[in-house]
Amino acid sequence: MCGIVGAIAARPVAGILLEGLRRLEYRGYDSAGMAVLDQGTINRLRRIGKVQALADACEQQPLPGGLGIAHTRWATHGKPSEQNAHPHMSGEGLAVVHNGIIENFEPLKQELQQQGYVFTSETDTEVVAHLLDRELQGGFDLRAALRNTLARLAGAFALGVIHVDQPHQLLTARKGSPLVIGVGIGENFIASDQLALLPVTDRFMYLEDGDIALLEADHIQVWDAQGQVAERAVTTFERSQGSAEKGEFRHFMLKEIYEQPRVMQAVLEGRIASGHLLEQAFGAAAGAVFDQVKQVQIVACGTSFHAGMVAKYWIEEWVGIPCMVEVASEFRYRPVVLPRDTLLLTLSQSGETADTLAALRAVQDRVLATLAICNVPGSSLVRESDLSLMTNAGPEIGVASTKAFTSQLVALMLTTIALGRRHGLSGERETELVAALEQLPGLLQQLLALDGPIEEMSAHFAEKHHALFLGRNVLYPVAMEGALKLKEISYIHAEAYPAGELKHGPLALVDKEMPVIAVAPRNGMLDKLKANLQEVRARGGELFVFAGCDQSIQAQEGVHVIHLPALPAVLDPIAFTLPLQLLSYHVAVLKGTDVDQPRNLAKSVTVE
Ligand code: M6R
Repeated sequence: MCGIVGAIAARPVAGILLEGLRRLEYRGYDSAGMAVLDQGTINRLRRIGKVQALADACEQQPLPGGLGIAHTRWATHGKPSEQNAHPHMSGEGLAVVHNGIIENFEPLKQELQQQGYVFTSETDTEVVAHLLDRELQGGFDLRAALRNTLARLAGAFALGVIHVDQPHQLLTARKGSPLVIGVGIGENFIASDQLALLPVTDRFMYLEDGDIALLEADHIQVWDAQGQVAERAVTTFERSQGSAEKGEFRHFMLKEIYEQPRVMQAVLEGRIASGHLLEQAFGAAAGAVFDQVKQVQIVACGTSFHAGMVAKYWIEEWVGIPCMVEVASEFRYRPVVLPRDTLLLTLSQSGETADTLAALRAVQDRVLATLAICNVPGSSLVRESDLSLMTNAGPEIGVASTKAFTSQLVALMLTTIALGRRHGLSGERETELVAALEQLPGLLQQLLALDGPIEEMSAHFAEKHHALFLGRNVLYPVAMEGALKLKEISYIHAEAYPAGELKHGPLALVDKEMPVIAVAPRNGMLDKLKANLQEVRARGGELFVFAGCDQSIQAQEGVHVIHLPALPAVLDPIAFTLPLQLLSYHVAVLKGTDVDQPRNLAKSVTVE
């Protein structure tokens, strides 16, 4: 994903911009560029490939000056090339960097071309540069020109703008894509992620959607979407928030569970706008691929496999095309039959899992296209796939996957919507699904309030050696993920079953020593699940039920119930996951195991 850095200072800014770009490398990119204003001239350098190539070019051709913008580009409109790299200019006087997608760039481009503007790139961004220039030619100042330009743009974006006639001002705006202002002493900055600016400041101002800000070296002015002057609080970054530190948390796993509201925001940012999905977030070629797909084959391991299992329910229900899911270690070693018009979807937190990579390599020449959903931008899986979607969860240190799983589910829901749109999913349904996704950050925050009751519940497990997880339908894979979490960090043997399978075998295991954890579905399956739960109670099994707020399951002797807050049913797999993560965490703490580095396990399984 693209990254933006900008600076206005009394000192040369090229070094600050380069370091900022290096710190944004984790977002993934294919080219980098920078424009710095010096004595009435904007000097621009752009290079394909790594930030280091841009740094080398700066060595050869230094860019002096105290006002500049820089960018790492992840191609969406037009191939990775120097011409398509940012910053983009209109004439010699104005430079723009952009993160996000301008959905209506084609009609705007035609309009501008008819008025004589010549485009030198294939990007959507160049439209912004020329629109701004047209407004300036019409007599507006830079801020008014930016406001008028924003009014013409559809999509999600963050922008940085400089102009030779305003050598002491850096303009910025955001709608749907991340952008933060770094507040310095006698110097100010912008970036896509505060991490880019930590070498120069620890004070940050977060813009709201639709805000425009004008930065001078010693002053920042913000206007809201209605054009009113707005106050935005300045907050100080606590170094303990650094992702490689536990901060106030006892374990990385707990920290990562608590990060999930923010992670939900990160995975959605730049992918949805005005109630619909931005398909270009999957890359320029995605639309054509999604049009032709006739079935999906998902391949993954462990937790990522469980995310794939959830997606199977979504894809078959909402897209109406077949979806197969298989663990990579099996898939790679058998003669699989894959119709040519298959989309191979690999899922991996690390992007380096040996079995998943081998599965990709084994069949990539036999399918329509490959799509990787991954948390590590430069990873092998991403590099070797045709399309990719980053989960943006940030580094996950705990071996037990938590935020990586829920962010994969969100990415998979976005993928399902993208596929569905090409296969008859109605606009209303898309709007409904996107509206539900928008509730996720707040909802997960509410779910964290269940931590206390779940910690109390965990005491029932401390002396147990086995546990059974039950789920139905889309919550069956969630039950599988709950069982995996419990076994890997507490070393309690745990198995998950679709609840309907209970009487086909596992019921024989149920007695008072076998706690049964059920995630209760909110579709027509509830009554069936209740019948299964009766079967457990009748054998003396103790039940632990996670239920929706409106479900008529009451606590009674031997039946413990935790109700989740009200939420759209489509979010159930994401929402029901969080309490199960907390349950395993607290059980592991009670048992005194090494929560973050459980015995025998590695974070990234790069060998067979
Ligand atoms: O990096 P990946 O998502 O490809 O890893 C796959 C599994 O090794 C991983 O999900 C593992 O099951 C988790 N650490 C379990 O919490």
